[in-house]
Amino acid sequence: MKHLFVMDPLERIQVGGDSTYVTMRECTDRGFEVAMCTPDRLFSHDGEARATVTPVRTTADAPYFHTGTPHESALEAFDVVWMRKDPPFDMTYIFSTYLLDMAGTKVVNHPAGLKLFNEKLWVQARWPQFQPETLITNDIKRIRTFVEDAGGRIVLKPWDGNGGRGVLVTEKGDANLSSMIELLTREGRDYLIAQRYLPGVMHGDKRVLLFAGEVVGAMARVPVATDHRANMHVGARVHRCELTERDREICAAIGPALREHGQLFVGIDLIDGHLTEINVTSPTGIQEINRLYGLKLQADLVDAVIAHTGGHA
Ligand SMILES: Nc1ncnc2c1ncn2[C@@H]1O[C@H](COP(=O)(O)OP(=O)(O)O)[C@@H](O)[C@H]1O
Ligand SMILES: [Mg+2]
Repeated sequence: MKHLFVMDPLERIQVGGDSTYVTMRECTDRGFEVAMCTPDRLFSHDGEARATVTPVRTTADAPYFHTGTPHESALEAFDVVWMRKDPPFDMTYIFSTYLLDMAGTKVVNHPAGLKLFNEKLWVQARWPQFQPETLITNDIKRIRTFVEDAGGRIVLKPWDGNGGRGVLVTEKGDANLSSMIELLTREGRDYLIAQRYLPGVMHGDKRVLLFAGEVVGAMARVPVATDHRANMHVGARVHRCELTERDREICAAIGPALREHGQLFVGIDLIDGHLTEINVTSPTGIQEINRLYGLKLQADLVDAVIAHTGGHA
């Protein structure tokens, strides 16, 4: 088989925690031909999506990535194209999904879904019953009123954020409130998410991985005492965790939609029995969950994706 990974430059990959790295290694270990390119190497000529790709063999030991000579190829020449570019989710990212629409082969995750489903808004649009009370607006006054009426703490976050960037906790009477809203909305030009604060987050923001809509593993990210955010990026610690009945209900409700839309590698975030995010662009967590439970999830992922390409391995 031939697998192409559309991703960030190899020198930026943190091999100790990166899910793409172990997936590439799994493909190499299975004897697949593996290549990579950054999104800016994608192009289209007369309706054919093509790219300048670099062959790469991935190993467990340094230097981890062994690259060959870059060459041009049609995307159709690959059995699977993995879209694993990390955020920002900006116009450049979205544009690359249009080129991937023309790939003529299996793309993981399906590029139509990548532009259709926003990681923080899909919950609001489809499963509002699973999220904490949430307001999405650019109206400064509306946000102020929401916070003042809430009778408790509120989280403010950018609609397009990741890794905990710009996520603030506030409440009625906060003398910084107006200033915070002005900063986050850039005086009302940008949309903002205001959401009821879930105190249970102190026991962990659960990351659940779903492959082809099925739960394959979970971990709890527990914030450190000096930061309210439970992102690994800002030092949160990871632990094993059980999924509650409510957690399982949420996974069972969204799993079929993920599969139906070709979102085969997804990481959802659950705080205190509420769904806050459906990460489809470049979810991570494989290495952490592997270490906590002695698993090799990248093998299950590659199996799941191959099963969805028509099955030839
Ligand atoms: N409703 C909430 N209640 C409590 N904490 C929250 C809430 N929303 C976000 N957080 C905190 O902020 C962190 C980042 O928020 P999240 O919505 O996951 O955005 P990001 O994409 O930046 O990870 C979470 O891990 C959690 O610690
Ligand atoms: Mg998150």
